[in-house]
Amino acid sequence: MKINKKLTIFAMIGSALVANAAQIKVETGDVSLIMDGEPGSALNLLYFGEKLANTSEFAYAWHITQPDTQDEYGRELYPAYGGRFFLNPALKLTHADGVMTTQLVYRSHEQKVIDDNLTETVVHLQDKLYDARVDLHFVAYKDEDVITQSVVFSHGEKGDVTVENIASSYITLKAADYYLTHFHGTWAREMQLTEERLTPGVKVVESKKGVRTAQSDNSAFLVSLDGPTREYSGEVYAGALAWTGNYKMQFEVDEAGLLHISGGINPFASAISLAAGEEFVTPEMVLTYSNEGRSEITHNLHDWARRYNLAHGDEVRPVVLNSWEGAYFDFDEKVITDMIDDAAAFGVEMFVLDDGWFGNEFPRNGDNAGLGDWQVNKKKLPHGIGYLADYAVSKGMKFGIWIEPEMVNPDSKLARRHPEWIVQSGKRDLLPMRNQHLLDLSNPEVQDFVFETFDNVLKMSPNISYVKWDANRHADNVGSTYLAADEQSRFWYDYIRGLYSVYERIRAKYPDVLIQLCSSGGGRVDFGALKYHDEFWASDNTNALDRLCIQYSENIFFPAMATAAHVSTSPNHQTGMMLPLKFRFDVAMMGRLGMELQPKQLVGDEREFAFNAVKLYKELRPVIQLGDLYRIDSPYDGDGYCSDVYVSKDRSEAVVFAFSTTYHNRTQSYDIKLHGLDPAKNYLLREVNTTGGSWYPGNGKVYSGEFLMKAGLSLPIGGAFTSMVLHLTEQ
Ligand code: DGJ
Repeated sequence: MKINKKLTIFAMIGSALVANAAQIKVETGDVSLIMDGEPGSALNLLYFGEKLANTSEFAYAWHITQPDTQDEYGRELYPAYGGRFFLNPALKLTHADGVMTTQLVYRSHEQKVIDDNLTETVVHLQDKLYDARVDLHFVAYKDEDVITQSVVFSHGEKGDVTVENIASSYITLKAADYYLTHFHGTWAREMQLTEERLTPGVKVVESKKGVRTAQSDNSAFLVSLDGPTREYSGEVYAGALAWTGNYKMQFEVDEAGLLHISGGINPFASAISLAAGEEFVTPEMVLTYSNEGRSEITHNLHDWARRYNLAHGDEVRPVVLNSWEGAYFDFDEKVITDMIDDAAAFGVEMFVLDDGWFGNEFPRNGDNAGLGDWQVNKKKLPHGIGYLADYAVSKGMKFGIWIEPEMVNPDSKLARRHPEWIVQSGKRDLLPMRNQHLLDLSNPEVQDFVFETFDNVLKMSPNISYVKWDANRHADNVGSTYLAADEQSRFWYDYIRGLYSVYERIRAKYPDVLIQLCSSGGGRVDFGALKYHDEFWASDNTNALDRLCIQYSENIFFPAMATAAHVSTSPNHQTGMMLPLKFRFDVAMMGRLGMELQPKQLVGDEREFAFNAVKLYKELRPVIQLGDLYRIDSPYDGDGYCSDVYVSKDRSEAVVFAFSTTYHNRTQSYDIKLHGLDPAKNYLLREVNTTGGSWYPGNGKVYSGEFLMKAGLSLPIGGAFTSMVLHLTEQ
């Protein structure tokens, strides 16, 4: 956005400003969210969009500022059920005396400048009659144009108040048309982008799976105004709930044509009773806005995540070889040390031993036994994990290990010792999924066990520097032997809070360990969990063709550096599809490159290609992992072509990835215009990651940024599963 970047500083650094002003502004460098808070009246949303220099006219903007009628035509920023508000409310309470309505009014607010990038605003609302308090917390990130919102509820009533629905945010917009982009999917087919025009009524995107909530859909969404989302123009809003449990996102077009976007914890079977003085804290909704299309949304969120919501977001990630698809459960010490030898020969920097290394009485030789018994399997690995970790280090690599500490197989010592720790619904039969049960993380004893599992695994060797944390089932038939009979509906919330408290303890003790977020592939890709992790396993589907679509969608919100993308064998184990090794590498190089195959199977030319590709990736990765991602052409548009360009922050370097995913006519070339370059700079173009050299006429030529962005390149790819990688360096 090209508007004045100078921020109005409305409070001194470190000091809080308490005000009863009519207008409350939550502002970033380029975005304003403006509320109207008159003491004793409803808090209205006046504006959310491109930053406004002058906001005084809102005083007589009658079409926005509504009288205090608590009706559906108002623009309450946080509407509660009550009065004439017939839409889905942000808040639904039952007060201690049984009254089901609430009328929130503005009381006061504070703003605090945390540092030169962060400003926190807290708006205090209260019911007009009851001592029921709602604090809206906003954090504005100036440089990243991100605003997060969370809500804290408390009360001082004589008796419990039941919270039946409490959204993290509620945004009202007005336009002629609204287009929603959301991301449905399933195991091995995560994040399938779908865009639809919203019509009157309610569109709901939700999860009730408790754990592994990001696979059927994702809480991350885009709303484009007045037409489908465009990449480099148009007004687009984005939101993503930083929460690893059930969520509900509602997009309600009312009879006046306004769109109300409400998002938060899913209220399904989740009513919570709170005693006076107790607090309920919602997860954060991460919001951003762009008037330059979807591209800016991606830059905002990637920059924000790398700075504030991803472990080690400023450090490049190592190249990984993971043992799963190369060995599955079928290995012994020799198989693993051979893999380490081969990985080292390829220049891989991190070897990760996946599932199958633990359990003695109930050995983990398949997915039916051993989960919960986190002792090394002495038969498979007689010299222990320390030996393997030292072995990897002796070969110049680091060592990582897989765990799934929230789960238990019925065939395990743990299940016999602590059957009460299993999530269960009274006397109903337990329903195993992938032969396993979920441990009840609402129980502090289970939280301790999960922490200790991580801790004890790390204690097996000082040379363990990476952990892959998996979770291969979701919650069904929920219930807890720990929670009281009248507290069962706390389960969903307390489970995730329990999980986060374990993550906190782990991060406090192990700040340097790299942790991968995995849940049957990409089942937990959300900003709530990502904050504690370095990366996520994008999908169990490692087929490069499918990965193009999965990674494309994930990278609209989540950074490429956090997207674990592994080259696997051909035919692919999930799809049976055969793809050239170059194509597979080119796709994986768009994220955090890794390999997931038996490296011995790569022989001859393929071995040499893989070696060179790993070497090349190390050269390119600062641009891919720390630069800006510009999408050129989508894999979803059906033309059989797609491409992206990654540009370094200083615009001195770029890497273009281009793919042909089907057979095109012989004469056809793939014409693309680049983005994000400096028009005034000259760039040397080199085709890289080739099989036996480049025959592209542009190879070795110098182009201006202007030419590359305005006239563009004509790439000679058109055969099925052909691809090109171009490296541009400033001259
Ligand atoms: C599911 C993960 O997504 C896979 O990568 C692998 O770790 C298996 N679990 C192991 O059981």
